[in-house]
Amino acid sequence: MQIETIKWVSGAVRIIDQTRLPLQLVYLDCRDVETLAQAIEELKVRGAPAIGVAAAYGVVLSVWGQEDISQELERKVRCAVDRLSHTRPTAINLFWALEKMQRAFTQSRGEEPERIQHLLLQEADRIFEQERKVCQKIGENGAALLEDGMSVLTHCNAGALATAGLGTALGVIYAAKSQGKRICVFADETRPLLQGARLTTWELLQNEIEVTLICDNAAAALMRTGRIDAVMVGADRIARNGDVANKVGTYGLAILAKEHRIPFYVAAPLSTLDMKLADGSKIPIEQRSPEEVTRGFGLPTAPQEVKVFNPAFDVTPGELVSAIILEKGIARNPYEPTFERWVR
Ligand code: MRU
Repeated sequence: MQIETIKWVSGAVRIIDQTRLPLQLVYLDCRDVETLAQAIEELKVRGAPAIGVAAAYGVVLSVWGQEDISQELERKVRCAVDRLSHTRPTAINLFWALEKMQRAFTQSRGEEPERIQHLLLQEADRIFEQERKVCQKIGENGAALLEDGMSVLTHCNAGALATAGLGTALGVIYAAKSQGKRICVFADETRPLLQGARLTTWELLQNEIEVTLICDNAAAALMRTGRIDAVMVGADRIARNGDVANKVGTYGLAILAKEHRIPFYVAAPLSTLDMKLADGSKIPIEQRSPEEVTRGFGLPTAPQEVKVFNPAFDVTPGELVSAIILEKGIARNPYEPTFERWVR
């Protein structure tokens, strides 16, 4: 099943409103930058590559249908980039895409407004297409690591809903399936926003992949009883040494995987690498509202006045990662020399 997470439809960024899944498959047309920025903040569109692609189209929205002189367009693009870059801090794909859009705008200086709109849309389409194709490659590369009959544990959602293509971690599962391998997936529910329960299971069921939902805290017992053959997750940002920021809880899984001698794989596009960071200590970790923990989905589950720590992501040290699957191939520790070669 082809899931169209993001689509440009003449003057609007059409996204699946992921906060409504799995109960309803509802599309939302964002016609201005503010609506799109809020959709990103509220996780209506989420997942590192999807955020990047959506933001690229967001920049197109800022100039769409405008007949202003170029200084005015420049101001609008600057405001759009500024607003979008303040939505979510951890996924570097957002900043990667915005930088590309800004460069495309700079190169279009002096052109007629209509031409500028066209050039920016072309650039956003290029980003979309690149990210779509990259999922395919990641899937093919990663599938070599999975054997027929394996059980794979995943966390959060790194599937089609998180990208412009088939997904990264789930892209590997889809590729393995298309090679005739039977893969069973265990999906962590992923507290507090339940991306695993709501999105990963929905998406895998749509694609006829066997999936079992578990509470996050059941992973250790599953591993101990030999029911997990590999862990496969996505990433929001990867430092030069292979430290990986991903959905909070990923680090714990990596430690568990090491203890139980289970391979721990990360699948991500090169656009998720942050070659400016030597290690993961400087990756900005998004802190989200306490209500996500105390009143998840509207139901009070803790005293209202309790203090809450709610980071959206954590950082897994590169030495706990068995391999990072990218579109160029499979990288292993030490990561830096391979990354250097592949980003060139
Ligand atoms: O807060 P989210 O739902 O945007 O977090 C998403 C993740 O942590 C994903 O694993 C990551 O972005 C990779 S998506 C291919």
